[in-house]
Amino acid sequence: MRIDIITCLPRLLDSFFAHSILQRAQTGGYVEVVVHDLRDYTADKHRRVDDYAFGGGAGMVMQIEPIARCIRALQADRTYDEVIYMTPDGERLNQQTTNSLSLRRNLIILCGHYKGVDERVRELFVTKEISIGDYVLSGGELAACVLADAIIRLLPGVLNDETSALTDSFQDNLLAPPVYTRPAEFEGHRVPAILLSGHEAKIDEWRHEQALERTRARRPDLLES
Ligand code: 6GU
Repeated sequence: MRIDIITCLPRLLDSFFAHSILQRAQTGGYVEVVVHDLRDYTADKHRRVDDYAFGGGAGMVMQIEPIARCIRALQADRTYDEVIYMTPDGERLNQQTTNSLSLRRNLIILCGHYKGVDERVRELFVTKEISIGDYVLSGGELAACVLADAIIRLLPGVLNDETSALTDSFQDNLLAPPVYTRPAEFEGHRVPAILLSGHEAKIDEWRHEQALERTRARRPDLLES
């Protein structure tokens, strides 16, 4: 898989992808993440990427030309499955969307900033608009990191324990059950005895019940869907 991220703050993204699982996913050849600085696609000497909104009002708007130039340069080299625009008014991200995006080959992620992008960018280039929740961030960069992380950890081979992405919270519309490790007793607080029993079928059953109970208590909306 290849993910191209277009941003006017490339440094903000670099460190995120240079560590831990995301770093290993790239060096292991499971994913190629390429960050593009929008200013490299400007034509004026001030390397301007935004301008005042037509009609007035506070806040700058990201201009279409640098974005068009960047997307077209990428599309000249390969076919993209989606051009995703990160925006608070996009479709809210969930595990289902993440799963289906993890099956794609090439993705472009465009980070919005200021008051957002010129509407014509959305009409002409964007195929999917994603929000990561009902609150506003100062830019789409963090949201792009969230999306890329959620996708990349699903790619086969990226996680050490291949089953661990399958048992994540949300994969079956259930929250994850509680987990424990040593010591078996801490200041009188014991690990549930069933987990020490070695009885695999009973443990699976217990975990499923705990997951259901937790979901009912914390996120009943997940059980309705
Ligand atoms: Cl994708 N962008 C911004 N700026 N804020 C957000 C968001 C995206 N998702 C939730 N809040």
